[in-house]
Amino acid sequence: MQHQPITTTSGLTETAPNLATPDSERREFLLKAASMLGVAVSAGAAVSLINACEQTNAPSGGGTGTLNVASQAALQNVGGAVRATVNNTQLVVIRTSMTEFLALSAICTHASCPVNLPANGALSCDCHGSRFSATDGRVLNGPATTPLRRYTTAFNAMTNVLTITF
Ligand code: FES
Repeated sequence: MQHQPITTTSGLTETAPNLATPDSERREFLLKAASMLGVAVSAGAAVSLINACEQTNAPSGGGTGTLNVASQAALQNVGGAVRATVNNTQLVVIRTSMTEFLALSAICTHASCPVNLPANGALSCDCHGSRFSATDGRVLNGPATTPLRRYTTAFNAMTNVLTITF
């Protein structure tokens, strides 16, 4: 950018940008400013996308569903278990104490056959003989190698409703 000498009222001579005609230096400055602004907007957009993804995935990706424990006779006693479909997910729900429940996927991780209700501490699969722990869903016997998926539960003793988080 060219600077033209000017004389101020104090009599000092200074230089100022020539604003009368745009020149390559000004264009370059504007392009740099626009470029920097573009980067800032892109960075802001990226942060927004990350936040949106985190919110979408939190806490476990599938929302919640409920099971009315009062209507499940087998769940009135500790150790009782039922099959239930909650939020289109097939579950085996086991009462582990008066206030706690275990919700496991009812689908065998080997080849997707349904597992049986627990017996002798295990959920067995008739298709190929896998067995899973009735306390946490871990594999007791193969051929399955992956535990049954376990879902977080919260029991409201006042309403007798079990909330399952997917
Ligand atoms: S599908 Fe369950 S053991 Fe194969």
